[in-house]
Amino acid sequence: MRRFLAIGAAVVTLAGALTAVPVLAAQRHPTVAEQSLRALAARHDLAIGTAIDMEALHDAADPQYRALAASQFSTVTAENVMKWEALEPTRGVYNWGPADELVDFARRNGQRVRGHVLVWQNQLPAWLTQGVNDGTISDARLRDILRDHITAVVKHFKGKIWQWDVVNEAASDPWDSPSSIHLKGFWAQHLGPGYIADAFRWARAADPGALLFYNDYNIEAFGDRGPSDKTWYVYTMARQLRASGVPIDGVGSQGHLGTQYADYDAFQVGEVLDAFSGLGLATAFTEVDVRSQMTAGVRAGDPAEINPRLQASASNYSVLLQACLADRHCLSFTVWGFTDKHSWVPGWFSDPPEGLATLYDESYRPKRAYNVVKADLAYAGPPYVLPRIPQKPRR
Ligand code: G3I
Repeated sequence: MRRFLAIGAAVVTLAGALTAVPVLAAQRHPTVAEQSLRALAARHDLAIGTAIDMEALHDAADPQYRALAASQFSTVTAENVMKWEALEPTRGVYNWGPADELVDFARRNGQRVRGHVLVWQNQLPAWLTQGVNDGTISDARLRDILRDHITAVVKHFKGKIWQWDVVNEAASDPWDSPSSIHLKGFWAQHLGPGYIADAFRWARAADPGALLFYNDYNIEAFGDRGPSDKTWYVYTMARQLRASGVPIDGVGSQGHLGTQYADYDAFQVGEVLDAFSGLGLATAFTEVDVRSQMTAGVRAGDPAEINPRLQASASNYSVLLQACLADRHCLSFTVWGFTDKHSWVPGWFSDPPEGLATLYDESYRPKRAYNVVKADLAYAGPPYVLPRIPQKPRR
């Protein structure tokens, strides 16, 4: 009889448990697959971002672009519309419209904005470069023009930009001549090396609340720390800027990788992030994509050619993201476009053609890289991955 009662009690308990199942189901955690990148990154206080192509964002025939830009990412960067040629195509006449639209899109979607870019030698307006070339703009006048541009742009967006790329790609590459790394391009040529400190000071004066970044490519890992080591050069430059009291808050590592070259692991990349944080600087990955050569086999759809490229691309995304997750000063991880449908890579690298660089394919199907990024965000945590340390502008 006792056994019978015990079995009866067990049946009642089990029945109770079964009736409780719908309640438990309602409270279950969403699966990783059901979550967005931005939701998973938020667990680490990490912003996950993308560059935005404004033409794609406006294309009524391409609603997936807008939907994914809003739902998957917590920070956005203007791929082109905050560059000088876009903002001031005619001298003294600013065209704020497209950049303002992006800032508004970000506000409506609860996203922060990385401002790109205040000082760069590319995508300058013709009136500026021609004026300098034909001598109607003197170098002294050029310095004033740069100060006025930085002041006007940073004030226009004051309070709306989280991180500004103040100076972009100032350092040369080892394949330039001379091969020892030096300051290259239009601004160094006309204004000398002091333009970098000036730019940070002018930006700080115009918006004391924005984090100010130096941004460059091919600075993911240290080399031999000799004269042709670009990462070491940028580290040394950042150290000198900090030591001189220049208001620089962070260094952005663009993260444009190619599967035919990239050969880093997360520890090598982490060493560089640690070195920058040792200077009291924040870090960020600002333009990540990992492209591959498009052989005839890839273009013909041969999986034996495509699959290893997709795997290598995913693995390199993971290397950069893991290093960022492990550094509490690495504030954001931004991809330079999220779909192969709108990526700068095929238009830029044509001989040999390159592509397959982003997280989604041309039909917005998530690629292996997307899933690896997602898994890294989902399965990271203490003790090695801890929430970001909030950064404030230094001075
Ligand atoms: O503005 C013209 C437009 O009027 C015309 O209709 C169109 C037709 O091709 O061309 C437009 O200009 C293009 C511009 O993007 C805006 O779409 C240029 O040809 C094209 O060269 C330019 O490329 C941009 C590139 O910077 C130029 O330097 C890429 O989209 C952009 O992704 C790329 O971004 C840079 C970062 O700013 C800095 N780091 C490297 C990164 C990749 O190169």
